Amino acid sequence: MNSEMMSTQTAVQVSNLSKTFRGQPALQDVSMRVATGEMVALVGASGSGKSTLLRNLNGLQQADAGRVEIFGNVLQLEGELHSKARQLRSQIGFIFQQFNLVNRLTALDNVLAGNLSQVPVWRSLVRNFTKVEKMRALSALERVGILEQAHKRASALSGGQQQRVAIARCLMQGAKIILADEPIASLDPDSARKVMELLTILNKEQGITVVTSLHQVQVVQRYFQRSIALRQGQVCFDGYTVDLDAARLNSIYGSAAEELVMSGHSEVFAS
Ligand SMILES: Nc1ncnc2c1ncn2[C@@H]1O[C@H](COP(=O)(O)OP(=O)(O)O)[C@@H](O)[C@H]1O
Ligand SMILES: [Mg+2]
Repeated sequence: MNSEMMSTQTAVQVSNLSKTFRGQPALQDVSMRVATGEMVALVGASGSGKSTLLRNLNGLQQADAGRVEIFGNVLQLEGELHSKARQLRSQIGFIFQQFNLVNRLTALDNVLAGNLSQVPVWRSLVRNFTKVEKMRALSALERVGILEQAHKRASALSGGQQQRVAIARCLMQGAKIILADEPIASLDPDSARKVMELLTILNKEQGITVVTSLHQVQVVQRYFQRSIALRQGQVCFDGYTVDLDAARLNSIYGSAAEELVMSGHSEVFAS
């Protein structure tokens, strides 16, 4: 397959996805496509459905209706996880705002434990890891720039370092897609910038497809060519981030828009 064909391969295809919580729609007929190697920002006001959509993209949650396909294979269809879902999910790394590491384990062991959604924690903890696995985990920690922290407990690391351990875990897993839910929302500006640069490098150099929810508009404008915006569970914008002008931001965020553009990490992210 040549590189041009690769670039148009579909990593994530969402078709008519709907999800309701106690009669309240969280996702309404959402359709979108992310090509392999893309880096896409998911934006929208609090409660617009970003986390729900991300969870549905890797089958952490099932919708009521609609379809999610990963690299052309059905992950969930009309509320049912496909029998091959586990296999598909192994290609998807997930990063959370609160890092989701096991605090009392070292950075290295957290990376070795891998994606906790696939292996029960106890099983990954009682396992003896092979030398090759340890080398791979160390190499993942080196890739994210924190090799020297490998033997520190997760609880002793800064937020930014913990998030990089979480990214190393995705690399260890061999993830071809990384879904990140507000990955920098709990970080100081400098750590946030490092995490964003890391995700960008992994996307550019390893071709990892990245879909991340964010609420800092300035960060979105700096790092993402494409944005998808949700409003009340519906896609209300899907296009070039440069086209997210003040009027559109206003319609996406309502009265909070002005505050969003001005707030947060402006001093660090201003280009
Ligand atoms: N597990 C849940 N139980 C009930 N309601 C939920 C649950 N998860 C999300 N919701 C509701 O769905 C809507 C979308 O939430 P969410 O996806 O978390 O939005 P966002 O991540 O954009 O802030 C909100 O109204 C929220 O209250
Ligand atoms: Mg959320």
